[in-house]
Amino acid sequence: MPDPIGYRREVPGTQPPYLHPDYKSTVKRSPTKATIAVPHTLSEVTGPLWTKERVGSIADDLTVQDKERPLGERIVVAGRVMDEDGRPVPNTLVELWQCNASGRYHHPVDQHDAPLDPNFTGRGHAVTDGNGDYRFVTIKPGAYPWPNHFNAWRPAHIHFSLFGPSFVTRLVTQMFFPGDPLLALDPIFNGVPAPARDLLVSSFDLGMTVPDTALAYRFDIVLRGRAATPTGI
Ligand SMILES: [Fe+2]
Repeated sequence: MPDPIGYRREVPGTQPPYLHPDYKSTVKRSPTKATIAVPHTLSEVTGPLWTKERVGSIADDLTVQDKERPLGERIVVAGRVMDEDGRPVPNTLVELWQCNASGRYHHPVDQHDAPLDPNFTGRGHAVTDGNGDYRFVTIKPGAYPWPNHFNAWRPAHIHFSLFGPSFVTRLVTQMFFPGDPLLALDPIFNGVPAPARDLLVSSFDLGMTVPDTALAYRFDIVLRGRAATPTGI
């Protein structure tokens, strides 16, 4: 039965399955019983509401957050957040986190034998403007090994979290880089059904580059519907 109010449900085949055995963590964490669809009520479809004023200082440049400039290749990552009908979504909180140029996270759990950068925490946030646009300046993340299988390496990626206009438009995903040879070997990327996984690969955008400063990658994000950006990875 359709929800009396609220958003359309996810379109089958556009989202990664809870269980994808090649991605070992999903074996333990995936539900063993059928999930229950909870009806959308006003609580789920009317908030939270974000504005630049409510979020406070905007940390959208990860290269100026510390005393010195971080090491690595400076890049622009930008795009537009849209709803299921292609309309821009203003006032969306966009958060990102990532490893540094050497492939190490600024986090105590990450004990990868690669150097930390004291000038790069890898965390930032922004709020979309009236056109649904967001823009970050950051460092291109490195690949890093992980214990999923023998000699497993994650392709370079940036984690994203978005709060759309309501709780049911929350989206957590990963952005990848075009032409990365590790994409074909990554169980997380390949756990997303094709062709939806291609929506996770950013595109090089010459028009957004900053001369003498930074190359640029466009990553548009669709919160719901048939062209929805895959979430939950
Ligand atoms: Fe990661």
